[in-house]
Amino acid sequence: MTALTKDLIKLTAGAEKSSSRDDRFRQKLHLMPPVGWLNDPNGLCQLDGVYHAFFQYSPFHVEGGVKMWGHYTSRDMIDWEYQGVPLYPDQPFDCSGVYSGCAFIEGGEMYLYYTGNVKLEDSDDYDYINSGRESNTVLVTSADGMHFGHKKLIMRNSDYPSDLTLHVRDPKVWKENGTYYMLQGARTKADIGQAVIFRSEDKIHWTIHSRVETAEKFGYMWECPDYFEVDGKKILSASVQGLTGEEWKDRNVYQSGYFEVKGDILSGEYSLSDYRLWDYGFDYYAPQSFETEDGRRIQIGWMGMPDCKEYTNRTIEDGWQHCFTFPREVFVKDGVIRQRPIRELDKNKKLVKETKNCLEVQGCAVYEAHICHIRQNQFRAVLAEDLTVEYKDNKFALVFTDERNKKISCGRNIRCADIDCVEDVRILADKSSVEIFVNDGAYVFSTRYYPENERMVIEAEGAEITYCELRV
Ligand code: FRU
Repeated sequence: MTALTKDLIKLTAGAEKSSSRDDRFRQKLHLMPPVGWLNDPNGLCQLDGVYHAFFQYSPFHVEGGVKMWGHYTSRDMIDWEYQGVPLYPDQPFDCSGVYSGCAFIEGGEMYLYYTGNVKLEDSDDYDYINSGRESNTVLVTSADGMHFGHKKLIMRNSDYPSDLTLHVRDPKVWKENGTYYMLQGARTKADIGQAVIFRSEDKIHWTIHSRVETAEKFGYMWECPDYFEVDGKKILSASVQGLTGEEWKDRNVYQSGYFEVKGDILSGEYSLSDYRLWDYGFDYYAPQSFETEDGRRIQIGWMGMPDCKEYTNRTIEDGWQHCFTFPREVFVKDGVIRQRPIRELDKNKKLVKETKNCLEVQGCAVYEAHICHIRQNQFRAVLAEDLTVEYKDNKFALVFTDERNKKISCGRNIRCADIDCVEDVRILADKSSVEIFVNDGAYVFSTRYYPENERMVIEAEGAEITYCELRV
């Protein structure tokens, strides 16, 4: 251990000790940083029955600073235990941040691949796109998911295709027909977003295999790419920066979505569908997926948004910022890719009310409301008096109405999606977030919010409504 690592351990422990951890907006069911800042989920996996969720963590700066990996473990993805920081930015190849990456499990071992970020000293000589930075690919292994070996630098920018800028990052590894493949997000020198596929026979030595891009330019940078198969569908997920034009006008600054892959992405004989968003709310970015030991595809996103000037979070005053989405199962029904909260949540539900047409409740911040058999598209809900969720004019919308004090929205206004009809809505509310699953999860809307009261009203004439408190 270097002297720097020792100091970082001490400083992190000091910062974590000073946090209060029970302020009003701390979540009950969603993972948050102990103190400071959290962004992307990293290294999601299950090893010997235990779930691991690592996260981009900046304990010293609530607005984000140098990144390290924090670590949570769980046996059911509901109760998580914080395990501290396994990866500090303490090497010459990751000194400006242990950036995002994945876990690959094989032979009972955990292989963590991440991007070692190096940003050279501030200087007018650098543009930090083609000069002034490094993106290194690093491997760390662990036999038990709790003790981690030495960091091994396995690729640097000179190992990547020469038409790429220095922005290459966020490795995601899988195995197919005996060969290992690694996807990384990239920005080309022509400012085109891409995913790069590397291959390896031994998980250590990697060479370039192929590149994935759309026929027409689609953004200038793809971050956190992911590739997986679910219920016979092949999905390429990417968090894209630089989408412009009418379609993206009233949306988030960056997008997270997926292409369906028809054909074989590895052989080059394939086509990509249109890009579809994973989530239509305000706060959703950089999702990562993994397969559970019982064969489910679970995805977790960062319930936040980078470089966002319009809105913010009231938890900054309390010394922490951002959280993950609640884990979601990705599944296919009637040919449509959908998401639903993991089934483990069921055992935490306490049925409070089953009713029809409308519901008015008060006094519970952490709940699930399920509205099904919605008739004639009649659906409207108002949460904490100032967040309206409604279907109107063929649009499903989240609308914040606290224009004057912005206490609940913290600057958020409207997000919507064109949907032909609304049949079923599931609302999952925690202390400071709401996730709304529409039509059996064909559309999802996630947002942070900062309720000042616990009032909730649902109006859906003819529909059946089930309201459960979530015990935590
Ligand atoms: C996405 C991202 C990744 C990067 C990480 C740094 O939110 O920008 O591309 O690895 O965050 O924290």
